[in-house]
Amino acid sequence: MDVEALEAELVAEIGNARDLDALERLRVATLGKKGRITELTKSLGQLPAEERRDAGQRYNQLKVRVTEALQGQKACLEAEALDARLRAERIDVTLPVRPLPDGRIHPVSQVSEEIVAIFGDMGFGVAEGPDVEDDFRNFTALNMPPDHPSRQMQDTFYLDHEIDGRPPVLRTHTSPVQIRTMQSGPPPHRIIAPGRTYRPDSDMTHTPMFHQVEGLVIDRRSHMGHLKGCLTEFVRAFFERDDVPVRFRPSFFPFTEPSAEMDIGCRRGGGELVVGEGDDWLEILGCGMVHPNVLRAVELDPEIWQGFAFGLGIDRVAMLKYGIPDLRTFFEADLRWLRHYGFVPLDVPTTHGGLSR
Ligand code: PHE
Repeated sequence: MDVEALEAELVAEIGNARDLDALERLRVATLGKKGRITELTKSLGQLPAEERRDAGQRYNQLKVRVTEALQGQKACLEAEALDARLRAERIDVTLPVRPLPDGRIHPVSQVSEEIVAIFGDMGFGVAEGPDVEDDFRNFTALNMPPDHPSRQMQDTFYLDHEIDGRPPVLRTHTSPVQIRTMQSGPPPHRIIAPGRTYRPDSDMTHTPMFHQVEGLVIDRRSHMGHLKGCLTEFVRAFFERDDVPVRFRPSFFPFTEPSAEMDIGCRRGGGELVVGEGDDWLEILGCGMVHPNVLRAVELDPEIWQGFAFGLGIDRVAMLKYGIPDLRTFFEADLRWLRHYGFVPLDVPTTHGGLSR
């Protein structure tokens, strides 16, 4: 038996195997149960005793070399297969994206993103709550006890069942998210909460469903000065002008004390409304220091914790910023309207890259 010739033949065949299947077939044909090397080893017994030892050693070496050749070729083929896969699955991330020509971002989504971007830069997180809210969080915990006249400030949609003796409501404002936030863990808190809100109202500037964004800061020392600075900064960033005049007017909300409404300067005339200049005023949000009774309702000690809150109508500031005259058109799903007032999907608002273009 010419073991060297056999080794050369097998090693050459292994080196020529073009894929892992072919290689596996070779392994079976040489080292498998009925493989050539296996058969050789079995035939040792038939050799004369004096040749057996020497032949045994040579067959063993043959087996070792063929095994090495198989392993080496396997590693090569696997590396080639990986290379081919990496080449085939490569994507060119520098290719420009072609946006769908008709897709548009609704002004409410756009303005929500703008607001989140601005407050995000100031260190506010985003919180959420459900549209269907319990009476306690929508009213009672906000210092509006049952049958208190302050509840009439906000006309309400009630659901037709009761939880703890009171019907749940479609939340009339985003303020219940203040309660949820304070119940979710210990202060400090610094969040905004954009979302849908509901009141039975319908005219040019009211729809039964509308959008608000709530803001809440709770810590040991935030005061009215912080509230004013924060909101002044916000409106200037939002309207993209550094000189927007602002004023804070004393007001009333059951859940804040003191309470204020914030106005921004504007000019009206010739059926036009220009925001950010002129000597007229336009109300844009409600705010104030969180009332001690609200803190007590979520088991915070008002001697230790304090802070401010604000609530702003998203649709309303969208109308002002983008000159949209009728709120009802926001929810008519008219594609022509959306094409006119909508935003290009890839122009994501950021304070550094520009809020709107
Ligand atoms: N929740 C009030 C509203 O809907 C707005 C507001 C929020 C006022 C927070 C003060 C503080 O009118």
